[in-house]
Amino acid sequence: MSQDVAPFRAIAVSRLAHELQAAGRSIIHMEFGQPSTGAPKRAVETAHQILDSESMGYWESPALKTRICQHYGDTYGVEVTPRRLAITCGASPALVLALSSAFTPGDTVALARPGYVAYRNTLRALNLVPAEIACGEATRFQLTAAQIAALDPAPAGLIVASPANPTGTILPEAELAAIVAVCAERGIRIISDEIYHGLSYGPNTASILEHTADAFVINSFSKYFSMAGWRLGWIVSPDDMASRVAAYIGNMFLTAPSLSQHAGLVAMDCREELEGHVQTYTHNRDLMLAVLPALGLERIAPPDGAFYIYADISRFTDDSLEFCMQLLKDTGVATAPGVDFDPVDGHRYMRFSFAVSTPELEDALARITPWFKARSV
Ligand SMILES: Cc1ncc(COP(=O)(O)O)c(C=O)c1O
Repeated sequence: MSQDVAPFRAIAVSRLAHELQAAGRSIIHMEFGQPSTGAPKRAVETAHQILDSESMGYWESPALKTRICQHYGDTYGVEVTPRRLAITCGASPALVLALSSAFTPGDTVALARPGYVAYRNTLRALNLVPAEIACGEATRFQLTAAQIAALDPAPAGLIVASPANPTGTILPEAELAAIVAVCAERGIRIISDEIYHGLSYGPNTASILEHTADAFVINSFSKYFSMAGWRLGWIVSPDDMASRVAAYIGNMFLTAPSLSQHAGLVAMDCREELEGHVQTYTHNRDLMLAVLPALGLERIAPPDGAFYIYADISRFTDDSLEFCMQLLKDTGVATAPGVDFDPVDGHRYMRFSFAVSTPELEDALARITPWFKARSV
């Protein structure tokens, strides 16, 4: 029988935020990792035109597949053939597809803790066994090859995420290469979540495909491309898994929305507008890093990428959910409690998403500053 999974607590924070908003309070939403900007303008214009002229049946866009393959050549210098690539309704179904096609119920899949809440819960829902590896400040909340080498017995699979959610940290390329080598040696199948690629503030984000063709990559238009609600993403499968993944998609999901595929194709060539968003995040990140330490939040994961800051709040509380709820009620700033990302140590962490506009971020910092200062002793 499938297992019950824990709810996403940030949803409870968000629900309260929306109730307060409906009652007239001014709320700044930093609880979810989604850009506040919409899809690129040209993508939206295309969608308007398509809406009036096409019947919108089941369809997988050959042009979008070719364009994504080209992206792998342009960005990472690796060849991905359309046969290995499939279009999905975001990275979430891509994760389900990778896990369900590569593993058998009862298999163990290792992953970092803290990590994106859906990894653990999707594994459980598919009757796979999550083996969470505690990753602390010493490894910048990321996995190391030595940790994977030490797992006994070897897991069937491993999920890596770089830049990661909730920390934004990036796996150094040498470590990524070492992880690939250990997994190859031990027969561990890798799933690399590259959803935050394009959003980095210094370090290079290598694709796992630069080190091996024998891994799944999941990716999406939700983050860099600012198209979360369009539900569009993709999966690159290892050669031996490609036909199975294609068959699973056809049966489980049919196709991604046609309209989104048309818009996504255009979005891939809207670099100027999208790089403008990255500039905003870069600025927001700098503002946060300048202010948070003075509020008692000096123990923060180095946010190399994505749009998150994961902060240690143990000097204030050991109940991150209650803390985030109180912060919301008092200041109108909604954030995510660490318990969503780490069931063991997350009670002493919180996550800020800085994918808001800079004026909103400035407002949020102005509101939370006195609140935190009143609690610092
Ligand atoms: C690390 C990570 N992977 C996957 C997803 C799923 O994204 P989507 O299904 O919108 O592509 C998210 C969403 O926040 C995420 O943070």
